[in-house]
Amino acid sequence: MPIHVDDSFQPQTTGDGSDTLYSAIYDETFHSTFGALTETEHVFLRGTGVARRLAEQQPTRVLEVGFGTGLNFWVTAHHSIATGTPLEYVALEKYLLPATTLARLNHGDLPAVAQEIRQAFLEWRVGLPDALPASPLQWRFGGGIRLDLIVGDAVTVTIPPRDYHAVYQDAFSPEKNPELWTQDFFARLFVVLRAGGKVATYSVKGEVRRRLAAVGFQVYKRPGPLGKREILVAAKE
Ligand SMILES: C[S@@+](CC[C@H](N)C(=O)[O-])C[C@H]1O[C@@H](n2cnc3c(N)ncnc32)[C@H](O)[C@@H]1O
Repeated sequence: MPIHVDDSFQPQTTGDGSDTLYSAIYDETFHSTFGALTETEHVFLRGTGVARRLAEQQPTRVLEVGFGTGLNFWVTAHHSIATGTPLEYVALEKYLLPATTLARLNHGDLPAVAQEIRQAFLEWRVGLPDALPASPLQWRFGGGIRLDLIVGDAVTVTIPPRDYHAVYQDAFSPEKNPELWTQDFFARLFVVLRAGGKVATYSVKGEVRRRLAAVGFQVYKRPGPLGKREILVAAKE
């Protein structure tokens, strides 16, 4: 059955000047209102160690839960290009936003390479139907970046088993998006992550920590970016 793509999204400028989207369906923004770009760099790139791996030119495989506006991808891809390091990025997404919605975001503050990648992605997205059936899609940029978009419900799709170095757990909040914060879902993440890999997320709720620990992760709180005291890192040690 085709997945309905709702266009009821409003761009919103966050505290660091970068844009995010507000979703009327979830009544939540896609990123921290204190700073979308700051959250991406701090929680996901640095929290999982992906920024360090790429800086050390170690080829890296990332799994993202919730592709959304693509911001986490543009920034990770930028680090990959800047360091000349191959990146395999698999993103789970129920509603792949249409190019027209993505184009309404002002990402003028992103590094030039990230903007170039985003622009190339938008040109590819324009050629696809707005409402996409659940299916895997592939997109490549340059010689070193491979993006696999797994369109469908992350709870039931097959997650490509790639021995990931990192998981960006970037669903909407546990209150609004509970199916992506269950112990069963975390168990799936544990299986596909390689030993030594890390999951990072912005929610430090007690039940999130307990469920991650219950499936085998070592769970740590780390200092958060501006506006957020702590973030969570779960390591498969
Ligand atoms: C907080 S946003 C992600 C923000 C994104 N990482 C970015 O950089 O823009 C959460 C995303 O999860 C997606 N989502 C929600 N429930 C889902 C589900 N059950 N399966 C797959 N994706 C889901 C939403 O459509 C939304 O795009």
